[in-house]
Amino acid sequence: MNFRQSISGLIGVMILVFLLAGCGSQSDATEAAEKEEKVVGIIGPMEVEIDILHSHMEVEETTEKGNLTFYEGNLEGQPIVLVKSGIGKVNAASAAQMLISDFGADVLINSGVAGGIHPDLGLGDIVISTKTVHHDMDETAKDFKPGQIPYMDTRYFEADQKLIQLAKKGTKGLPDYVDVFKGPIATGDQFIASEEKANWIYETFDAYVVEMEGAAVGQVAYLNKIPYVVIRSASDDAGEEAAGIQENFVEEAAKNSSHVIEEMLKRM
Ligand code: ADE
Repeated sequence: MNFRQSISGLIGVMILVFLLAGCGSQSDATEAAEKEEKVVGIIGPMEVEIDILHSHMEVEETTEKGNLTFYEGNLEGQPIVLVKSGIGKVNAASAAQMLISDFGADVLINSGVAGGIHPDLGLGDIVISTKTVHHDMDETAKDFKPGQIPYMDTRYFEADQKLIQLAKKGTKGLPDYVDVFKGPIATGDQFIASEEKANWIYETFDAYVVEMEGAAVGQVAYLNKIPYVVIRSASDDAGEEAAGIQENFVEEAAKNSSHVIEEMLKRM
């Protein structure tokens, strides 16, 4: 190889390196843009269920819409919109749809407390939804299964696998007494305070916890074809004394579910 050939070879290599470096930074930029574009809509039913997240987030804009207040901003470096929906399925569904349609949420997370109905579950334990179901949807008189919304092609609303994995990672750092479970969550417009009813829901739906919003959020996510997950911490056992137990334990349980949400956002 003469001098001229080796110089042109060197220039060729340099151009290749330059182009490859360019491609790398372009794909980094694309990844960063994709990351930034994701807006996470977070719904908590009660003040105590959004309080911690609200106090830790950097609020950029507060918007009153209908009777709800939406907080847009950042938490753990992730763009989020946080809202307190109020209790029950219609409140949750309405807030979820607003998050998507009016605030550009690409992902929905429902965070809060629940009544533990699985025998292995203790107070404060975390349940990550694999799927959600309406335990009070009942057209069994027409031979539909309990929870089946007639003529909908699913009985359970499947949670997103990536969000489930993120949530699992997000349980790091919880207090030692907290156990973590993954499983179905059952939702209805009823505060369950009956061992008999709790057992029926557990046996009928294989559910770990019962609450009043998750499947509504799941259904809205399903209808809008966007990913969702529900994270709940057990504030009571859904038995006869549930109301009193919840009063004493709701703050601790809300702290646990908020912890998981923040740790998830860190990893998004
Ligand atoms: N949320 C917390 N505890 C609950 C219960 N026992 N029933 C329904 N929703 C709940």
